[in-house]
Amino acid sequence: MITPNTIEQIKNRLDIIDVVGEFVKLKKRGSNYLGNCPFHNEKTPSFTVSPAKELYKCFGCGKSGNTITFVMEHEKASYVDALKWLAARYNIEVEETQVSDQQKQQLQVADSLFAINNFAGKYFDDQLFNTEEGTKIALSYLKERGFREEIIKKFQVGYSPQQRDSLTKALLSNQFNRELLPRTGLVVVRNETDLQDNYRGRIIFPIHNNSGKIIGFGARVIGKAEKAPKYINTPENELYVKSKILYGSFFARMAIDKQDECLLVEGYTDVVSLHQAGIENVVASGGTSLTVDQLRLVKKYTNNLTIIYDGDSAGVKAALRGLDMALEEGLNVRLVLIPDNEDPDSYVNKVGKEAFQKFIKENKKDFIIFQLEVMLKDAGNDLNQKNTLVNHVAETISKINKAEDFTKQQEYIKQCAALLKIDEGGLISLVNKLKRDKIAKDEKKQSPSDNQYDDQSPPPAEEEINYLASQDEKHERNVLRVLLDYGLNPYQDNTTVAEYIFNEVKDFPFDNPQLESLISTYKIQYEAGQNPNTKTFLYHEDQTIRELVISITLFPYELSINWDKLYEGKKITTIDNSEEDVTMSVNYYKLKKLKKMFDQNQADMEKASIDDQMLLIRIHKELKDLERDIAKKLGTVILK
Ligand code: UTP
Ligand code: MN
Repeated sequence: MITPNTIEQIKNRLDIIDVVGEFVKLKKRGSNYLGNCPFHNEKTPSFTVSPAKELYKCFGCGKSGNTITFVMEHEKASYVDALKWLAARYNIEVEETQVSDQQKQQLQVADSLFAINNFAGKYFDDQLFNTEEGTKIALSYLKERGFREEIIKKFQVGYSPQQRDSLTKALLSNQFNRELLPRTGLVVVRNETDLQDNYRGRIIFPIHNNSGKIIGFGARVIGKAEKAPKYINTPENELYVKSKILYGSFFARMAIDKQDECLLVEGYTDVVSLHQAGIENVVASGGTSLTVDQLRLVKKYTNNLTIIYDGDSAGVKAALRGLDMALEEGLNVRLVLIPDNEDPDSYVNKVGKEAFQKFIKENKKDFIIFQLEVMLKDAGNDLNQKNTLVNHVAETISKINKAEDFTKQQEYIKQCAALLKIDEGGLISLVNKLKRDKIAKDEKKQSPSDNQYDDQSPPPAEEEINYLASQDEKHERNVLRVLLDYGLNPYQDNTTVAEYIFNEVKDFPFDNPQLESLISTYKIQYEAGQNPNTKTFLYHEDQTIRELVISITLFPYELSINWDKLYEGKKITTIDNSEEDVTMSVNYYKLKKLKKMFDQNQADMEKASIDDQMLLIRIHKELKDLERDIAKKLGTVILK
């Protein structure tokens, strides 16, 4: 672990413009810098970097963070590696501390599993090439299937001999921890104490992590699987977490990056054969439906995922499941089915590289269209099923919600309407309705208040909806912005901005629980003398808090103040406008809340008894006075 002291030193030296500027061409725009986002394709720059706040946000794709998260995202590095990268850049010596006993133990287990796997990988390799049994039974089988030695070596394919405990013995005589062996899946315990090899008589496909270390194995029977399962796979352990693994990613990632496309097949042999044919941007899922983690792994390198399955594979339906997730992740998913009972492995062996690539190119079909065709076939003439289908398609299309994908969505609607033989307009309104429902649902989650006040602002553009959950929330966020930015500053010589804000808003609680909890956290830290501010929150350990703070501080609604008018008659050379910013933000917030109470009051009035009405009229008058007061203070200020 890197010591807090080192982390502190790194943070102090960071210059976000310098770091981001190394990868993105930045232009100064006001107090911020602007460039083309490195995380998505764009022609007009919407990637904003604030040197003062040491953060970035892309208003196109929504990615945001601080200097450290930028390095993590851009360089696909872990937190620790990003810190080390920055330390190297600024010539800071990295101090590392002792880890806790529990962490140490976990690391030790992982290290031991790596060591065992590494040993076993070499052992299987040796057995395949250098023993009679291996060459006769296994190597000949692999060669018969068309695998050449160099590709077998590249993927470290091996052989586990038939003898019941040959690997177990080798492991034990090399002093590997007996207790840990079963956890690797290489060894099984029989009759409580007896250790035995688990993959006897099988071809071994090692599975590598992204740095090329072996995390597990797939063990295939030789020839047809009759009694035993075709493959035995590593059980989940400290290294092998199936939902996060794509077989072959270590060998494929460069090619995926370069070709900006990832091919996904089902099996180990498909990956190896395609590599042998010179098609290297390929990984395998192992025939199960894709997980979000696997999709994100792909997305690190490309937005284009092409799934290649054999036509009658049960895997196709498995793959289709969960692909809506891919749309939400912004991936372009295409599907190709290999014809005539072939799979990618046999097909590429039959037709060769060029014909294979040509086939993929000409036959890949967009996932949504593909899915629709499959389901249309299933539905036949059943009207009920067809109706369900229309809803399903609309639902899928509505998940494409990134602004830049708008044309894509239109195109889908057109094609799907044609396939379904329904009116395009009908499908458009259905998709729009589902989108609205989703937004309303998200909004409800974020802010329970209803949202019918602010009548002077136009309804927000859809892509901004995330920033602008509700008009009320806009003001809550704005108050938090000034609190985070200026909270520790003095306010009117006798108090601090933070105290002033706490005092002013105490009768006007926030509606959004997330924002309410942020202000409480701030208050607790402030009162404990921890001097909280935007930066300390930007490095908060909780990612949701970091993201919330970023969206607040880069919130596109700042007070635009007519300074000339405000300072009329006064000769001021240097203006620190933070105090005005605070006052205006707080007052505007209160005004909004008052307006709401006011309207509520009006509504109550209509239902109230005479006595209650008298009371309400008094409250109404007080509210009016307060509103007038605040409005006067606000004077020349408008909120964009
Ligand atoms: P396949 O049956 O297509 O196997 O299963 P394959 O890898 O292409 O092997 P060959 O070409 O027939 O020799 C696809 C994948 O599904 C998983 C494996 O990951 C396999 O690569 N699988 C299949 C299992 O995990 N267990 C099984 O029993 C079968
Ligand atoms: Mn196969």
